[in-house]
Amino acid sequence: MNQYIRSNQQRYLDELFDFLRIPSVSADSRHQHDMLRAAEYIQGKLLDAGMDTAEICPTAGHPVVFSEKIINPALPTILVYGHYDVQPADPLELWHSAPFEPVIKTTAVHPEGAIFARGACDDKGQIYMHVKAIEAMLKYDALTCNVKIMFEGEEEVGSENLGEFVRQNKEKLKADIILISDTSIIANDIPSVETGLRGLAYMEVEVEGPNRDLHSGVYGGAVANPVNVLAQMIASLHDENGKITVKGFYDKVQELSTEERDALEAAPFDLEAYKKDLGIAEVSGEEGYTTRERASIRPTLDVNGIWGGYTGEGSKTVLPSKAFAKISMRLVPDQDWHEISDLFTAHFTAIAPPTVKVKVKPHHGGQPYVTPTDSPGYEAAFKAMAEGFGKTPVPTRGGGSIPIVALFEKELGLKSILFGFGLDSDALHSPNEHYGVFNFMKGIETIPLFYKYYSENFQ
Ligand code: BES
Ligand code: MN
Ligand code: MN
Repeated sequence: MNQYIRSNQQRYLDELFDFLRIPSVSADSRHQHDMLRAAEYIQGKLLDAGMDTAEICPTAGHPVVFSEKIINPALPTILVYGHYDVQPADPLELWHSAPFEPVIKTTAVHPEGAIFARGACDDKGQIYMHVKAIEAMLKYDALTCNVKIMFEGEEEVGSENLGEFVRQNKEKLKADIILISDTSIIANDIPSVETGLRGLAYMEVEVEGPNRDLHSGVYGGAVANPVNVLAQMIASLHDENGKITVKGFYDKVQELSTEERDALEAAPFDLEAYKKDLGIAEVSGEEGYTTRERASIRPTLDVNGIWGGYTGEGSKTVLPSKAFAKISMRLVPDQDWHEISDLFTAHFTAIAPPTVKVKVKPHHGGQPYVTPTDSPGYEAAFKAMAEGFGKTPVPTRGGGSIPIVALFEKELGLKSILFGFGLDSDALHSPNEHYGVFNFMKGIETIPLFYKYYSENFQ
């Protein structure tokens, strides 16, 4: 089968390129039709691969692609989840090639070439590995489990309609395990399996001062400037040790034992290479924790965007009436995103000086998630990675979020296996996103091993 997979590399890449050419940007309503086109493209490829059915299921937002191949109802069923939507490509001027015109270029990390396009790694390239792995397994009569597929179109905007879809389709989604390729490995020669995702609480704040924009000479110094005030409020959200000051924020944070921390710290990490890749002289974060811990087992608070006043060309002397910011918090077990949203709202309102009015609006969120490492699914993932890469994988905790994963457990009672093949340095959400050809092909070869080892548990 691996021979077949290798000899089909060019065709796989050609098909993936066609998929990547469809600008399936879920956040941008101008791309609504492209969302449907992307869903139809993947539907067609699932049928070509030999799935029994592949349907486009409407939701209140972008559609879900659902597909299944039931070879024997007595066998276990793997439910593959992923997303065909992508992040907006902006800022366009920072791309070295057009975001929706995929090209292969080599990089220091990917000497055998990487596919440059928005969605190459997150997540179109990774869901396409599953389609091709299924095609290969069916061709070689090597499919040892039933398989169901759920590819959604709203992950990058918070999966707000997927919960409803899941609740309405519990029977259809019945399975034994969920398999997801939407995370990273440590390096191409250091395979790893992620054992957790952070949760998310995403807020937008508005600070209002005077009832209109003012002349900053006539009024400046006498009337509170909402942009100045917002900057001070935001600055106060961290103390001098990098701790978040929102009251009650850490109350439910699970502290890891020294053994657990040591085990995670045993994974290789090159701080110098990390800084060099990002072009920074120093890292920063919560005191008492390493860089990797800060980006995985610890909760965080970050401003994603801030605006107000005059930001056009040249200068305009103005004391703005309003200032805004988008603030997100990454959460860890057992923080609850609804509770944290409430705590943030209360805190942010309480710290506002009497000179301004504050509005806080929660956007979307999601709960943190941890995969049990003593489960048959995790063991199968571990063995598959070991065989696929010829090297023992390292368990890691991821820093990103896939908000729907905790909900799958709640609504379907299913655990999720994080079986991603990207690299953190693949520029996900950034200009020049890419995905290694090695990673893409390695994924296609390794996914069937998961099926093999997972079904062995049931024999
Ligand atoms: N695939 C990522 C999450 C990810 C990336 C997990 C790398 C682990 C390693 C996912 O598409 C993503 O970007 N999620 C968003 C969630 C948000 C838009 C609700 C995130 O983490 O910001
Ligand atoms: Mn993703
Ligand atoms: Mn993403």
